[in-house]
Amino acid sequence: MSASTALRHAERADAFFQDFDVRPLPGGLGAEIVGLDLAQPLGDDDFARVHRAHLDHHVVVFRDQRITPQQHIDFSRRFGKLMIHVLHQYHLPGHPEVLIVSNIIEQGKPVGLGDAGKYWHSDISYKPLPSLGSLLHAQELPAEGGDTLFADMHKAYETLPLHLRRAIDGRRAVHSYLAKYGQMQKDGNWRPTLSPEQLAQVQEVVHPVVRTHPETGRKALFVSEGFTTRIEGLPEDESRQILDELFAHSVRPEHTYRHVWRDHDLVFWDNRSLIHLATGCPPHLRRKLYRTTIEGDLPY
Ligand code: SIN
Repeated sequence: MSASTALRHAERADAFFQDFDVRPLPGGLGAEIVGLDLAQPLGDDDFARVHRAHLDHHVVVFRDQRITPQQHIDFSRRFGKLMIHVLHQYHLPGHPEVLIVSNIIEQGKPVGLGDAGKYWHSDISYKPLPSLGSLLHAQELPAEGGDTLFADMHKAYETLPLHLRRAIDGRRAVHSYLAKYGQMQKDGNWRPTLSPEQLAQVQEVVHPVVRTHPETGRKALFVSEGFTTRIEGLPEDESRQILDELFAHSVRPEHTYRHVWRDHDLVFWDNRSLIHLATGCPPHLRRKLYRTTIEGDLPY
């Protein structure tokens, strides 16, 4: 045991103390959490360290988590209320809090949402209370491809050219679940026709183009090609041009981290700070992950 770990042991009355490291990833976005077992009880001090790492690094990768769906749900719930995805067709049976993300077809039926993350997006930004963060747990990984890209929207905001900053100052934009839905229905077999009840759950919403992170106070761009359709109060062509410039700027390589999945990874990202994209894998290779999504605050 290292001297610093021994000191932390001695200082802690916490019976559930685990000895783990938070290692920032090269490139400045994300951190790896090594040595923490989420199948074991997580004490308040360790939880606080994880929470801090999440705020500081925006995406944290827990390696080698042999957890059940219920443990995944229980850990996620410590950060807030869980959201239930509108596509109930892809809920994990018995666990509606878990969305199955998968390209696998069994007996002619998709087992999960195969095109989740096909366009850059922040999860569930199309709701009045968008998501705080999402936790994606690898179940079955392809031998090739299937990476997930994350883009830092704080950096995107901080490096915006002046003309774009001026153009979006004080503006709000429309987010719609249906923005790419029709296109995805044409491109694949994952998107069912939505029932009237489902449509009622995904009415358009309006959010600030630049939001303030409610826990860190940092500003971040809050638009994405996946869900943002227009900037309010601007002519359609001007709104389109600004959004396209914002989308291109957000995902510049220097703002991104590419997660190459390893077996049993659990990846927890902050939807208030990042957007993400599933890069896809060859269709004959099986990929399956379980996702929980935590509800966040009203963006401001
Ligand atoms: C998602 O957008 O939640 C899915 C990301 C992925 O499958 O890599």
